[in-house]
Amino acid sequence: MKQYNVGVVGATGMVGQRFISLLENHPWFRLTTLAASSRSAGKTYEEAVGNRWAMKTSMPEAVKNMVVLDATADIQKIAKAVDFVFCAVDMKKEEIRALEEAYAKAECPVISNNSAHRSTPDVPMIVPEINAGHAEIIDFQRKRFGTKRGFIAVKSNCSLQSYVPALHPLMDFGVTKVLACTYQAISGAGKTFETWPEMIDNVIPYIGGEEEKSEQEPLKIWGSIQDGKIVPVSSPAITTQCLRVPVSDGHTAAVFVSFENKPTKEEILTRWKTFAGEPQKLNLPSAPKQFLHYFTEDNRPQANLDRNLEQGMAVSIGRLREDSQYDYKFVCLSHNTLRGAAGGAVLLAELLAAKGYLD
Ligand SMILES: NC(=O)c1ccc[n+]([C@@H]2O[C@H](COP(=O)([O-])OP(=O)(O)OC[C@H]3O[C@@H](n4cnc5c(N)ncnc54)[C@H](OP(=O)(O)O)[C@@H]3O)[C@@H](O)[C@H]2O)c1
Repeated sequence: MKQYNVGVVGATGMVGQRFISLLENHPWFRLTTLAASSRSAGKTYEEAVGNRWAMKTSMPEAVKNMVVLDATADIQKIAKAVDFVFCAVDMKKEEIRALEEAYAKAECPVISNNSAHRSTPDVPMIVPEINAGHAEIIDFQRKRFGTKRGFIAVKSNCSLQSYVPALHPLMDFGVTKVLACTYQAISGAGKTFETWPEMIDNVIPYIGGEEEKSEQEPLKIWGSIQDGKIVPVSSPAITTQCLRVPVSDGHTAAVFVSFENKPTKEEILTRWKTFAGEPQKLNLPSAPKQFLHYFTEDNRPQANLDRNLEQGMAVSIGRLREDSQYDYKFVCLSHNTLRGAAGGAVLLAELLAAKGYLD
């Protein structure tokens, strides 16, 4: 496989740090360029991060002395130096939209963790096991931007990365309605217990914008390309409640689901066991071998025990049973900063590289 030179925009942040850890020994991607705000620009990466390094593994030696560039002022320089960038920045939505478009127009593909472009109709929002085919919209987007290489592709919100994969293999039973309550880790807010002590022994029943994303984004992921746009599906009806809980990493969801043609419990378990997407078929470096793991024990999945399954890229499911109001209910879990953020973006980049979009 070809080697790609890669940049991380927002390299000093929580997701940026996760990218740096994941790319340390990546077989296809070589990290050559780091960028962040003007506050960090000109400093070495180690100086710019200061005491903010939040990964459990230590900062890779190779990045410590790399000089951080200015994500906005140095766009042309960065675009020339790399084959594509990962982007995860904390800026206003309209500023992120403009920043990502500027990279794309400078012929630098952007694989984004930000939400700014998730609802743009010709920007694919891809969970690689589910809707790899949405990459085909990139040709339409390139026409709109007038670019040969440049484009933006995004990954979806971390909250839905457990229940949408679990529901996907069941869609042809006619999923009519879904209720999901999510129990979300504090790293999803870029925080640790040291930086957010108020979360110890606490639950906060509100995460700004999260319920809207959790209800709307699945509809685009299951949508289809029509006339150069991704048209969302109109069903299932999805309702969610998203709570912040005192867990470091790992978003859990309690899910209720009804079907047009109610499957048996055995049929659901077989669908989960046998499901494989493009990443498994293409044997991508970050793909979990078994995407969906079902636990038969009543007390699983647990965030603390199961979030790191298959390097944090698999989804854990348990407690499937019939329900008195819906057809079935179950619980599922995914690692929010691995599968749900940087790991999902790296897998998306691998998919796009394998399909030739990053050449
Ligand atoms: N945390 C998660 O689990 C998670 C999951 C999915 C998606 N996301 C999304 O990923 C993005 C980053 O989240 P995070 O948790 O990593 O945030 P964070 O820890 O606050 O990091 C923010 C990053 O953005 C940079 N930045 C801030 N203002 C900038 C500017 N004006 N120009 C260029 N860079 C700027 C910061 O650089 P300086 O250090 O120089 O200030 C830093 O590198 C957000 O859009 C978030 O919604 C996060």
